[in-house]
Amino acid sequence: MSDLEVPLRPKRKKIWVDYFVQFRWIIVIFLVLPISFTLYFLTYLGDVRSESKSFKQRQREHDENVEKVVKRLKERNPKKDGLVCTARKPWISVGMRNVDYKRARHFEVDLSAFRNVLDIDKERMIARVEPLVNMGQISRVTVPMNLSLAVVAELDDLTVGGLINGYGIEGSSHLYGLFSDTVVSYEIVLADGRLVRATKDNQYSDLFYAIPWSQGTLGLLVAAEVKLIPVKEYMKVTYKPIVGNLKELAQGYIDSFAPRDGDQDNPEKVPDFVETMIYSPTEGVCMTGRYASKEEAKKKGNKINSVGWWFKPWFYQHAQTALKKGEFVEYIPTRDYYHRHTRSLYWEGELILPFADQWWFRFLLGWLMPPKVSLLKATQGEAIRNYYHEMHVIQDMLVPLYKVGDALEFVHREMELYPVWLCPHRLFKLPVKPMISPEPGFELQRRQGDTHYAQMYTDILLCYAPGPVLRGEQFDGAEAVHRMENWLIENHGYEPQYTVSELSEKNFWRMFDGGLYEQCRRKYGAVGTFMSVYYKSKKGRKTEKEVQEAEQAILESPDAEVA
Ligand SMILES: Cc1cc2nc3c(=O)[nH]c(=O)nc-3n(C[C@H](O)[C@H](O)[C@H](O)COP(=O)(O)OP(=O)(O)OC[C@H]3O[C@@H](n4cnc5c(N)ncnc54)[C@H](O)[C@@H]3O)c2cc1C
Ligand SMILES: *[C@@H]1O[C@H](CO)[C@@H](O)[C@H](O)[C@H]1NC(C)=O
Repeated sequence: MSDLEVPLRPKRKKIWVDYFVQFRWIIVIFLVLPISFTLYFLTYLGDVRSESKSFKQRQREHDENVEKVVKRLKERNPKKDGLVCTARKPWISVGMRNVDYKRARHFEVDLSAFRNVLDIDKERMIARVEPLVNMGQISRVTVPMNLSLAVVAELDDLTVGGLINGYGIEGSSHLYGLFSDTVVSYEIVLADGRLVRATKDNQYSDLFYAIPWSQGTLGLLVAAEVKLIPVKEYMKVTYKPIVGNLKELAQGYIDSFAPRDGDQDNPEKVPDFVETMIYSPTEGVCMTGRYASKEEAKKKGNKINSVGWWFKPWFYQHAQTALKKGEFVEYIPTRDYYHRHTRSLYWEGELILPFADQWWFRFLLGWLMPPKVSLLKATQGEAIRNYYHEMHVIQDMLVPLYKVGDALEFVHREMELYPVWLCPHRLFKLPVKPMISPEPGFELQRRQGDTHYAQMYTDILLCYAPGPVLRGEQFDGAEAVHRMENWLIENHGYEPQYTVSELSEKNFWRMFDGGLYEQCRRKYGAVGTFMSVYYKSKKGRKTEKEVQEAEQAILESPDAEVA
């Protein structure tokens, strides 16, 4: 593996922020955890309150709240009020996006009331929900009915609106695609205050395809209909260790869910859930899950493991034991399984609270975990925020499945970051070209995992401190991300925008397809009312001049047509 050698880096001098970060756990334990717990509890009470109302009443309140949004939009003076965005405080959202746009003049519309499940339609197998409904809330409602969203994003706090307008993924995305691929309709308030319902085959189908990845820059989402699937009470999980070099690990991962004979639509050969953890450049564990009934799980000799209990070992560490003891199988209650990485915030928990994975901490205080990401963000201040930008990586690389081995080698050279999470997802071939799409002509290659209607991609999640940082060597985080973005552009990959992006405007539009998006921006009057997606994602504080230019943009697009 001589080609995998990592560059030698000089040692770095410690500064005060290093010590602050090292002792951050004190603030986390005494401040963040108790407040988090209180907030989770209050949110839970809010959910209970919401559920105590009839669907009819929730619908009535929904209609009133939509009225308020329309009214608020109409109050805006386009000449001086700034561009529209939601009133959600930047630290509340889970993502690590650059939210510098909220530090310049802007016009806020409050969507905080939109937190109700509006309907569960068992006949159509659809949940109609408001955008602030989060994953914990919805799975609590549907799983007892033996139903689930087709793609349930991991962390309890992730919201439907964020997963649609940003991106969302789970271990079932190799079947259903990204979160937005499971949406049947969007209800959107447009710039002029019109409420429209967009589906894939009505008059707003262009809008329907343009919404995902648009970051709320085409309109305000007020409700969405999301596909439900039937599920069983348990997940039968197989943990299979793999060893070898990174290319071999990648192939082991591919073989865990993509039959070599191309029979990708055969449920006998393709599991319901897939994820792989790469723990080091030579070791990984492939996990595959299949729904199982209670009867099956409780059969004699089967092991049931409720991984959701606060005192249980963290899931990624539990999975790692397969490297020592070899392949094993167990049954996990479905909801515990969906939220298996929640308690440890994937593996970030260990950096924030270095001893939180020890048995004594788990038994004593494990029930307080996880700290709310929003509170971690709220208590970090500017210096630490910048420190994390430099010393810590939170990035996802969405790459074609056959390039996973190359990508892992690239990451090893540039960042040496482990563990790495691999999660496959379909990228569907659509009648139009939205912001992201499969490689042109992929269907002719008949590669493992692909079908004629979708190319198989993989989300490579990088969230940890890179090797050089852990060893106290110099590391330029911004530069590493910059190179990663170039690698993605060259390899038909994508970078979700919830992370810190270093992309220039030119490179942003080399990565993403802006055709349909720009067309919809003009057609639906978004230009000059909502920020453009690049303006919104860009790093760095905006000047008053930039704000003015963005507001003026409407005047320069004479082809704006009123639909
Ligand atoms: C520690 C961590 C763990 C994560 N784990 C996962 C995971 O398991 N699975 C996964 O899929 N993702 C995960 N993510 C990333 C996550 O998908 C993104 O942050 C995602 O965008 C959802 O976050 P949010 O609900 O906080 O949305 P926000 O950040 O609040 O919103 C995302 C975008 O959508 C826009 N938006 C939201 N609501 C509306 C609306 N009603 N109308 C118009 N625009 C709107 C916002 O303005 C914003 O631009 C994780 C991120 C972190 C930092
Ligand atoms: C869910 O399915 C199980 C059988 O696997 C059944 O016993 C139970 O009653 C179902 N629950 C509901 C609400 O339909």
